Amino acid sequence: MSVNAPLNMEKAASAAFYLPHGDECTVFAAAHANRLPVLLKGPTGCGKTRFVTHMANRLARPLYTVACHDDLSAADLIGRYLLKGGETVWVDGPLTRAVREGAICYLDEVVEARKDVTVVLHPLTDDRRILPVDRTGEEIAAAPGFMLVASYNPGYQNILKTLKPSTRQRFIALEFDFPAPEHEVPVVVRESGLDEARVQPLVRLANKLRGLKGQDLEEGVSTRLVVYAATLIATGMPVERAVSVAMIEPLTDDADVKRGLLDLVLAVYG
Ligand SMILES: Nc1ncnc2c1ncn2[C@@H]1O[C@H](COP(=O)(O)OP(=O)(O)OP(=O)(O)O)[C@@H](O)[C@H]1O
Ligand SMILES: [Mg+2]
Repeated sequence: MSVNAPLNMEKAASAAFYLPHGDECTVFAAAHANRLPVLLKGPTGCGKTRFVTHMANRLARPLYTVACHDDLSAADLIGRYLLKGGETVWVDGPLTRAVREGAICYLDEVVEARKDVTVVLHPLTDDRRILPVDRTGEEIAAAPGFMLVASYNPGYQNILKTLKPSTRQRFIALEFDFPAPEHEVPVVVRESGLDEARVQPLVRLANKLRGLKGQDLEEGVSTRLVVYAATLIATGMPVERAVSVAMIEPLTDDADVKRGLLDLVLAVYG
């Protein structure tokens, strides 16, 4: 990640619709008030990022999102010296900016981060709440509104990519899953503009497809994909085609598995 072109860093959108499925908003607000970091666990496309955007908005904090990957270094998060017009100037990374401004820093897919990155988080995520910046010799105390949020998908974990207990036990953790139908239907209606009567069978199909997780499918179909299918239908695509491109093809490349999935489509749509 280049500090000059912080593609992964974004300020919170002005408004973000989020339909709670439990007490997650209350827990998150309590964590923020008590200066506790939060870890969100859940499958892809179930609403983690949307939830953080929504909460940043509700708590009126700026949000810096960093997509973690195994090339991301501590300097990408903290900052580095850059040459500007013949002078060397220090440029804060997203984590340092969040610490100074009292913002929310959201580390997406934190298990992908290298060890040197997770170690940087330790003094920030216990009661010290400080960020040591070795390069400048600074030790920055986090401003009051600062909060660290991290997320990961436990489904993709392998033995090499787990968080150390000393890291994970610095966070309170909220488990996310796909919304129950009575929540997913209004979410998809709102996100796609498709009417409820046509969203209902899509959500029924999604739940049937999710039943195949672990047998034929690595991951169940996400709410994100259901929203895609509904959006395509709302703009005129025939249901069958929209379901195929948004809810079947993204799940598998295996022709036999695909046939099995199409049987489920027939079972729902007749
Ligand atoms: N409770 C919800 N309220 C509103 N929208 C939701 C909710 N749950 C899911 N969505 C919808 O699902 C889409 C995907 O959610 P989001 O991007 O937050 O997933 P994620 O859990 O961050 O996935 P990933 O792990 O792949 O980053 C959102 O864009 C939104 O349309
Ligand atoms: Mg996300």
